[in-house]
Amino acid sequence: MLDTLLLFGATGDLAQRYLFPSILHLLRDRLLPEDFRVVAIGRSEHDDAGFGEWLRGRLADERDLALLPELLRHTHYHSLDLADPGAVATALAPYAAKPAVSYLSVPPNLFEPACLGLKRAGLLEAPSRLVLEKPIGHDLDSARHIDATLKASLDESRIFRIDHYLGKAPVQNLLALRFGNTLLEAVWHNRWIESVDILVAETAGVDGREGYYAGYGALRDMVQNHMLQLLALVAMEPPGALDADSIRDEKRKVLRALRPMGATSAGADSVRGRYGDGVVEGQAVKGFVHDGEVETFVALRAWIDNWRWTGVPFHLATGKRMAARSTEVVVTFKPVTHWLFDRPVRDRATPNRLRMRLQPDETIELDLMGSLAGPEFGGMELQPLELDLSMAQPQRRIAYERLLLDALNGNQTLFVRDDEVEAAWRWIDSVSAAWGEARTPVQAYPAGSWGPQAARDFLPDDVAGPRRRRAA
Ligand code: BG6
Repeated sequence: MLDTLLLFGATGDLAQRYLFPSILHLLRDRLLPEDFRVVAIGRSEHDDAGFGEWLRGRLADERDLALLPELLRHTHYHSLDLADPGAVATALAPYAAKPAVSYLSVPPNLFEPACLGLKRAGLLEAPSRLVLEKPIGHDLDSARHIDATLKASLDESRIFRIDHYLGKAPVQNLLALRFGNTLLEAVWHNRWIESVDILVAETAGVDGREGYYAGYGALRDMVQNHMLQLLALVAMEPPGALDADSIRDEKRKVLRALRPMGATSAGADSVRGRYGDGVVEGQAVKGFVHDGEVETFVALRAWIDNWRWTGVPFHLATGKRMAARSTEVVVTFKPVTHWLFDRPVRDRATPNRLRMRLQPDETIELDLMGSLAGPEFGGMELQPLELDLSMAQPQRRIAYERLLLDALNGNQTLFVRDDEVEAAWRWIDSVSAAWGEARTPVQAYPAGSWGPQAARDFLPDDVAGPRRRRAA
């Protein structure tokens, strides 16, 4: 396990919200190595004491704040212009005596100079590692360019591309459920599954990130990474083993089997939206105003052209300023072939579903049908039966806790490989090109709603009502 973390972007939003709190939790649980130290790098001018004070102010709500002095004893702050590789090399060379994990939580235009500086300082020699935050590029070409820059300094086995969704506990539980149970794996294909819904609804807006969002939109910010990773885990074939490459080989195959979207299907298989003024959780909020064609909501119907999934729609929907925060994956099974019961009538029967919630709660639920054997009604009446399959977690963890530990340990299983990134971009580029060709409009939706009306058939039943009844 490496014990030095060079954190670029130490005064950024992600570091304040998730990375430093994660480090504090790992310290509390004594999961970090004995000589663990953080080299914090940011643009703001601070000395070590000033950075400590600044950080304390930002972590005021943190429950493990009492551990901050311990962390600060092992933290050094450097104010650096990352665009200047020479300055990076000079300032960081003293740390090169030991291998380190360098974590680039900075915009992608700084990846190249930061890498050059790290390389010159000797901080990318094996076994040192590099961790990268998304976005990795804006499309396939720019992602390839970034990748070539990285590969000039170190090989794939030491590049760790973060997708924090992979660090969420229910996502790992999905693998356990799928591959640890005959019952589920036996029905996990198009013969028994009707559809899969993946929803990531946020109540937050783009606040403070307008510039970034205007260039990326929900398609590139959320679908290219988090949502396609969820889709790949749901749809992949059973890997031969649980090592990083066995899993990533299977995810890549799914991503490559995604049917490119064409202009003729863009109208039926996608909806774009942008929030206007509205009310979210009782608060009036302003809409996202922008002259260009950028979406804060996207719904897509994806098709995986392979033996297992032909004919099964995967509905992906994500949006900012939605009615509620809800992230879930819902697998809906086909109805039984022959219906024996008077109540409910066949069309009213709730289908079997596996519902995996990631947010706000972490739960897994299996919806079956059972019987109420009351004497009042002569026949047999079926009722939905919701089985809670959640594992009791000792505590809820921030996804980054697991990912930071894995990066220090050199375990790439929960990190995204170069060819997965490329396959995901290839599909995203097809969607973006289809929108351009079909002139798919960005439809307005009020903040605090479930997106444009046209998107209702892309949403899971628990937020939009039963799909079959909607279609009637
Ligand atoms: C980030 C996106 O990757 O994920 C944000 O850039 C988004 O726009 C966030 O809000 C959502 O993460 P989570 O864990 O809160 O669902």
